[in-house]
Amino acid sequence: MGTKRQFRIWRGDETGGDLQDYTVEVNEGEVVLDVIHRLQNTEAPDLACRWNCKAGKCGSCSMEINGKPRLSCMTRMSTFEEGETVTVTPLRTFPVIRDLVTDVSFNYEKARETPAFAPPPGVAPGDYRMQQVDVERSQEFRKCIECFLCQNVCHVIRDHEENKPAFSGPRYFIRAAELDMHPLDAKADRKEYAQAEMGLGFCNITKCCTEVCPEHIKITDNGIIPMKERVVDRRYDPLVWLGSKIFRR
Ligand code: SF4
Ligand code: F3S
Ligand code: FES
Repeated sequence: MGTKRQFRIWRGDETGGDLQDYTVEVNEGEVVLDVIHRLQNTEAPDLACRWNCKAGKCGSCSMEINGKPRLSCMTRMSTFEEGETVTVTPLRTFPVIRDLVTDVSFNYEKARETPAFAPPPGVAPGDYRMQQVDVERSQEFRKCIECFLCQNVCHVIRDHEENKPAFSGPRYFIRAAELDMHPLDAKADRKEYAQAEMGLGFCNITKCCTEVCPEHIKITDNGIIPMKERVVDRRYDPLVWLGSKIFRR
């Protein structure tokens, strides 16, 4: 037999909504998503939430728990104080569909806008070769589970809806960084593209994206900052600029 805990959960849709109070049983070892499932099985069968793997790998169950963007399947109830009310709200940066489900299609649009890997001309599929060291260099970025917590927390769009058209966000900056490290990618300079087309310049390195990433990807230090530094070098350092012309890859 578990203990009774207090929850406040946002209920509503695109026309508006409010926080509703629930008292619900919690058992040892449970996570926030377990509690949401218990509510769906008892007093709130119509409570909408998105989830899939319950193992921190599908990136579906993103929500804000006590104001912090988190995966609900990886947030243990033991992280909260006994007697503390747990408040669960939908991701704030994206439009609500219903209850805890948001419309994250902004991110899919940005994914489509990011130019895909472009193989070098004359190399047939199956003939691509690269060194193991090059595979490993960008491995960190390929751990992304597309939970969009980093996209949700970045103040550039969280507080400024008007920035959305011009800003791809941290998840796509690491995609650009990953492709920039790819020795066979023949697309013209990914850093320049990120600066010119993806809104890299809007990022002022607050690192909130890195803080919330459940895969512990060093989005800012390993992805964003190196790209920013190299863009700045090329623009303002005539020697680096000249070198980049002479030793073009
Ligand atoms: Fe989620 Fe991290 Fe990928 Fe951002 S970079 S979408 S926080 S896994
Ligand atoms: Fe946003 Fe991350 Fe930059 S939170 S401002 S993209 S460091
Ligand atoms: Fe898949 Fe939480 S349900 S990450």
